[in-house]
Amino acid sequence: MHILTDFPRQQLFELLRTMPKAELHVHIEGTLEPELIFALAQRNGVTLPYDGIEALRAAYAFTDLQSFLDIYYAGAGVLLHEQDFFDMAMAYFHRAAADRIVHAELFFDPQTHTARGVPIGTVIRGLTRACDTAREQLGISSALILCFLRHLSEADAFDTLEQALPYREHFIGVGLDSSERGNPPEKFARVFARCRELGLRIVAHAGEEGPADYIRDALDLLGAERVDHGVRCVDDPLLVERLARERIPLTVCPLSNIKLCVFDTMAAHNMATLLEAGLCVTVNSDDPAYFGGYLNQNFVETFQALPQLGASHAVQLAKNSFDASFVSDEQKARWHDELARTVARFGPEQAAPLTAT
Ligand code: HPA
Ligand code: ZN
Repeated sequence: MHILTDFPRQQLFELLRTMPKAELHVHIEGTLEPELIFALAQRNGVTLPYDGIEALRAAYAFTDLQSFLDIYYAGAGVLLHEQDFFDMAMAYFHRAAADRIVHAELFFDPQTHTARGVPIGTVIRGLTRACDTAREQLGISSALILCFLRHLSEADAFDTLEQALPYREHFIGVGLDSSERGNPPEKFARVFARCRELGLRIVAHAGEEGPADYIRDALDLLGAERVDHGVRCVDDPLLVERLARERIPLTVCPLSNIKLCVFDTMAAHNMATLLEAGLCVTVNSDDPAYFGGYLNQNFVETFQALPQLGASHAVQLAKNSFDASFVSDEQKARWHDELARTVARFGPEQAAPLTAT
């Protein structure tokens, strides 16, 4: 991991931008840019409580997770028709292509839409059509993960699962998001047991604002195969050991963590600590339209703020993103090869130790 700390800084940032990578923690409703919110509001005749794009952007001054969620759910209120969901996701896929994302696993929040009378089929059909179009036109592979809102009841989650089942082949797994504190994993243990019976892949947000205990409970009570955020694991050394031993991936979102005040500054972020502990950490954008940047911006700002991170960490993070994804081992191997080819273009001196890590 340390062989390449001398890799020239300028080339490091070029490597970060051009290396193939997967994004595993992005809420598609969190990619809705203010411009698109206003365009959809006009198209759909929805009135927004903001004078314009700049006034809306000015409201993006968050103090914690809840202060963000209030604005995020309001922004999603402009999404009414299948075409709206398609347009939102396609805008994300174009950004993803520019960031050299070759695979994306997208979260969506059906309850945010069904509660407003938008049928779940409208949501899933629009997103699925975008995923198909992204593969055909941009060569990006993708999958959908349905998230339950944890501030709502277990009964509401069961009802949502029921509504989603006619579209079972269009999503690969389920997750758990929204207000973490006071809504522990155990509240949804029975819903997730049913999801496991249905053969769905399992992820859950845990240890973003909530305690390390919620991470352990996400693993033991929900069967989470991947933990979203998980940065609070460092409060429990035994848990860190377990995450490393069982190679349970963490989908870390650096810019999100700064904007929601999980860490005061990027220099105070524990990304390097997590990597040094041998965890399968990945970098992700979470809600890029709200947090100041898409995936490459997350990579660049993290590496700028943490000078102990070098090229070997960059390559490790890209490898981790493929290893942590829900694709076949054959597909993972193809992306590992593609990554090695990109690294090799940075010159034989740099490439030799890199490909050996
Ligand atoms: N945490 C919890 N719920 C969310 C988030 C997040 O970072 N983004 C969108 N929903
Ligand atoms: Zn998230």
